[in-house]
Amino acid sequence: MRQPHGRLVRRDAGRRAATQERRETKRRPKGPVFAALSASRPAALAERIERAPVLDRPVRALSGTVVRALPPGPRTDVLHGVPFGQPAHPALVRMPLGCWTSAVLLDLFRGTERASGTLVAVGLAAAMPSAATGLADWSALHRHQQRVGLVHAVSQAGAATLFGVSLLARLTGRPGNGKILSAGGLAVATVGAYLGGHLALRLGAGASHAEPIGHLAALGWHDLCPLDDLPDGQLARRQLGYLSLLALRQGQAVHVLSDHCAHLGGPLHQGRVITVREADCVTCPWHGSTFRLSDGAVMHGPATARQPAFESRISDVGWVQVRPARASRAARRRAAG
Ligand code: FES
Repeated sequence: MRQPHGRLVRRDAGRRAATQERRETKRRPKGPVFAALSASRPAALAERIERAPVLDRPVRALSGTVVRALPPGPRTDVLHGVPFGQPAHPALVRMPLGCWTSAVLLDLFRGTERASGTLVAVGLAAAMPSAATGLADWSALHRHQQRVGLVHAVSQAGAATLFGVSLLARLTGRPGNGKILSAGGLAVATVGAYLGGHLALRLGAGASHAEPIGHLAALGWHDLCPLDDLPDGQLARRQLGYLSLLALRQGQAVHVLSDHCAHLGGPLHQGRVITVREADCVTCPWHGSTFRLSDGAVMHGPATARQPAFESRISDVGWVQVRPARASRAARRRAAG
């Protein structure tokens, strides 16, 4: 009895599996259709751009031109947004996009030609600083980010051109053409804005890449390493749990910063120690961001976020002990309060 019963169970299970598969096949779009649909998703297209080496030649040419035109210095720091503590580009792009969107919406109503034209013109003027800040940031990105950034920039330049021609049409008595060109410009600008979002939010351009000290380092003092293990006057990397730290010993004093550069995560312990405005600083080996060793303040971009810093002391037994600088300030405030 056992054998027929087993066969029946297997046949039943096989039938159920076949039915399930038929249902799945019906529900699932056919292979090429499915692939086409996946590829048409905006995120998939943006990912393809990331992996498109065909863009590398124009990326190299434009990047070289931008780097030559914007050498490191105070002017380039302003374009990066160093004085504001965050990239200037995301804030500035709101102006042209806002003006152009409003112009296209006003075009839907009668008697708004003058207001629409003014908004198109203001948007064009605002696109200049927006482009300058974007190019400065773009020139200090990784290659796959630069590929997406290039298509983003070309889209926005195309949108600006369409709005420019639209303004010309409006000024020369062809408002109908002007409205159509503005609508086209807004569509192209929207594609460019999507790629800008992909660059910032998916690929992390503009975000701080420093490690989240608040989550990875508990409050209080931690043993880092014996003082004698640190070479005097040379940058060294030491591990504190999950955190990579940069340490610079100067006699009995030790400066400690998070090792992953806030710009794009470069290894600061491979950088150089330089003096900026009479303060000892470290420059990142990747794109030259410069941080003050005493507190991680940004002295030069492209980084805009402060590098997480640690306070240090030497214990009775000659060990370097560290604690997050912000936590220690809070502790001091608590103690004072
Ligand atoms: S990773 Fe770009 S400056 Fe450090």
